[in-house]
Amino acid sequence: MSQLLLRALLGHAVFGACLAHAQLPPVPVPPENPITPAKTVLGKALFWDEQLSSDNTTACATCHIPSAGGGDPRSRTPENLHPGPDGVFGTSDDRRGSRGVVRCAPDQRFTPDAYFFPRAQVTARRAPSAIGAAWAPELFWDGRAGSTFLDPLNQRVVATQHAALESQAAGPLVSDAEMACEMRSPQDVATKLAYAKPLALADQLTPDLSAALAIDPTYPELFEAAFGSRSITPARIALAIATYERTLVPDQTPYDLGTLTPAQQRGLQAFRGNGACLFCHSEPLFTDHSYANLGVRPDADDVGRFAQTQNPADMAAFKVPALRNVGLSPTYFHNGGKRTLEEVIEFYRIGGEFPGPNLDVRFSPAFLTPAERADLVEFLRNGLTDPRVAAELPPFDRPRLASERASTRVARYGFGTSGTGDLAPVLVAPHPPFLGNDRFALGIARALGGSQALLGFAASAAPAGLSIGVQPLWIAPTSWFASVVLPLGGVPGLGGSGFESLVLPIPADVLLEGQTLYVQGFVIDPQGAEGLAVSGGAAVTMFGI
Ligand code: HEC
Ligand code: HEC
Repeated sequence: MSQLLLRALLGHAVFGACLAHAQLPPVPVPPENPITPAKTVLGKALFWDEQLSSDNTTACATCHIPSAGGGDPRSRTPENLHPGPDGVFGTSDDRRGSRGVVRCAPDQRFTPDAYFFPRAQVTARRAPSAIGAAWAPELFWDGRAGSTFLDPLNQRVVATQHAALESQAAGPLVSDAEMACEMRSPQDVATKLAYAKPLALADQLTPDLSAALAIDPTYPELFEAAFGSRSITPARIALAIATYERTLVPDQTPYDLGTLTPAQQRGLQAFRGNGACLFCHSEPLFTDHSYANLGVRPDADDVGRFAQTQNPADMAAFKVPALRNVGLSPTYFHNGGKRTLEEVIEFYRIGGEFPGPNLDVRFSPAFLTPAERADLVEFLRNGLTDPRVAAELPPFDRPRLASERASTRVARYGFGTSGTGDLAPVLVAPHPPFLGNDRFALGIARALGGSQALLGFAASAAPAGLSIGVQPLWIAPTSWFASVVLPLGGVPGLGGSGFESLVLPIPADVLLEGQTLYVQGFVIDPQGAEGLAVSGGAAVTMFGI
């Protein structure tokens, strides 16, 4: 059947239909993982706990924030760019992804990755919404998380159906770009949690979290309340997180409540009619869970679903995203390539930017007048937004992450001076310096490969104007109490390639609370003035949890 005929038929079927809406079906629940209040609140704590990452910097929520529609509010910033398959920043195949961890070895020391070091690594795809993901039989843009959930420890079947959320949740915890140091095992995650104080890094806890923690202040107790015994296992972690996600039901949009404005109603009509959007974004979920190649990028850029099925028909096809709360999303498409809904609709008007041989048969340029396009944008932007998601009200309420508070970060001050390759060394200090953080690491990078660095530690900062020879000094010589000499890795003689780091466990000693450690790095570098290249300063203020 020709596409035009298909489109005409579809147009007929819905033309003149009233604007009644279908109700969201109940959330599918695996029989092996019933929703209970204790499991939900445990899952919420886990989802919002940055201690789930190897280095205490990244929670699931870091990349999935309700007011960003369940996606990553940071995704428009330069720190969240991925260079794409050509490996070069600033070219057309760049993606807007999500920042995870600075790459780290199993012993927590920082280690270079191909593109980002000493900055945090960025995912190669955009973070889709975790809100309203509960209906999908498969998750991720390529559907690689399937509906059967296997125990991450032994691959035994834990849940036979409807368990894509569980399958998905097990992934990021051991991904050495998102939340893990290299070689992290699922058991490592469980073991770390047994000793962590739940949500110790978060503040502004929600009433449900505070109430649960008042009764069960440790993870073993929260797991006992949820699962009947204190044991923390990788499977239980996934079961609890998935349960929490199943309670995030965005069913109070103007579309659901029948409160669409006239413009939004006209937009919905265009969506159902001339836009032919329903071919794939079928109501009421606004997805039929199929995969489609829309020509967002050339096929070779990202093979998408093909990687899972090896079926040529799936080449560069991506999961049809659900559209609730799409108006809150900072970026669109699997590569984050579009920043506004106007840009998305323009993409649909022209019928894709890279239409290749595998373009989906259900897809063709959308015949829409400028007024219809404006109405369509208005429908998508506001007609599908659940106000509780936008305002982060229950069940979408949430604590504040440590990464959202400047006071939990190591502060940088001053500036470095350059050596070989015209690069200045930098201190690498992404970890929150809380009391009892036995994984706190500090590093130096962008130094001369194979050279030596000295890290100086002092109790106070140097008053501006001090220097060693011509080099700026950022730590006070009078309070300088320790120096560590580090042989640098990297390519010997290559400017910028040198790096090394130290793990400095912070004792759980209340006397340290509020104390600040000042650090500066000095690198032996013949191209630096007086044979040195130096970093700026870092102020490490330790905080209690
Ligand atoms: C560093 C950022 C980051 C972190 C941390 C992270 N995610 Fe994601 N999430 C992503 C990206 C990127 C994708 C899409 C990846 C892909 O499709 O290849 C994704 C996909 C998902 C999806 C699938 C949505 C869909 O419609 O397919 C869910 C659900 C989800 N994440 C939940 C979680 C949970 C639960 C955690 C913690 C265990 C987590 N995420 C941690 C970035 C992140
Ligand atoms: C052939 C199936 C198909 C049709 C028809 C279709 N879409 Fe899509 N839509 C998709 C797929 C697949 C994606 C994700 C594409 C990607 O990222 O590569 C998408 C993405 C989107 C997004 C971005 C969502 C996000 O989270 O990134 C919006 C908004 C959207 N579509 C709206 C529409 C509208 C409006 C129409 C009608 C004019 C429409 N779609 C027609 C399949 C379709």
